[in-house]
Amino acid sequence: SRISLSVLDEVDSTNTEVLRQISMGAAGVPVAIADSQTMGRGRRGRPWRSPRGENLYLSAGLTFHGGFSVLDGLSLVLGVAVAETLEELGVPGVRLKWPNDIFLPDGKLGGILVELQGELQEGLVRVIAGIGINVHMSRADDVDQPWSSLAGISSQTGWSRNRIASALISALLESAEIFAEKGFSAFQELWQARDLFKGQHLVAQGGGVIGVGCGIDKQGNYLVEGESGVVPIRAGEISLRVA
Ligand code: BTN
Repeated sequence: SRISLSVLDEVDSTNTEVLRQISMGAAGVPVAIADSQTMGRGRRGRPWRSPRGENLYLSAGLTFHGGFSVLDGLSLVLGVAVAETLEELGVPGVRLKWPNDIFLPDGKLGGILVELQGELQEGLVRVIAGIGINVHMSRADDVDQPWSSLAGISSQTGWSRNRIASALISALLESAEIFAEKGFSAFQELWQARDLFKGQHLVAQGGGVIGVGCGIDKQGNYLVEGESGVVPIRAGEISLRVA
């Protein structure tokens, strides 16, 4: 399908920009990239640090047949697409933190924000998938967790954001197509091979050790083995972290 690409110097949020493109009736798959965002947003209502020229901020509008439940699987699928793209570009040690944070050994490298635009008609949903990758981020005093950037990988310098963006766009669209055809199960193994939580003691956001991470099921729920057996956790229900 044809891509309708907007390359912007500054924008509130590339996710919002894609929404605007859709409401203006843009033809094809709307994709937006910006050099900086003034109101970049992350999951759970958090802001996403978006300094000018340092990182990658990219969003795409995707349409799927199915109900709102496609969202759960989709965010994991996009994580796999980002991880595979980075690996192909020579980034070692990429891991996925359920549901869809991108990690390097030093900390979070990027994140994915999947937003639902709504049901277009019976059985057709549109989502805006936004991806942020730290490329040259120089400082982040206001980021509340360990983070990393591609420039922090010693083996390679001179990361081209254009090159990463074009590889990412192809990978995202291709993965979304495979997901639409085959469902999430086609990605289960690919996701698990990069599972940051595997074998780790995990706690739920509210506190309390709940068990050891043991991968995902066919729907993309995270499996935690605790005293009472293996419990599947649905994305959005509980937030997990390493104890
Ligand atoms: C997270 O909380 O981990 C998700 C972060 C997603 C950030 C990206 S940057 C491009 C797109 N535009 C936004 O406002 N957010 C996403």
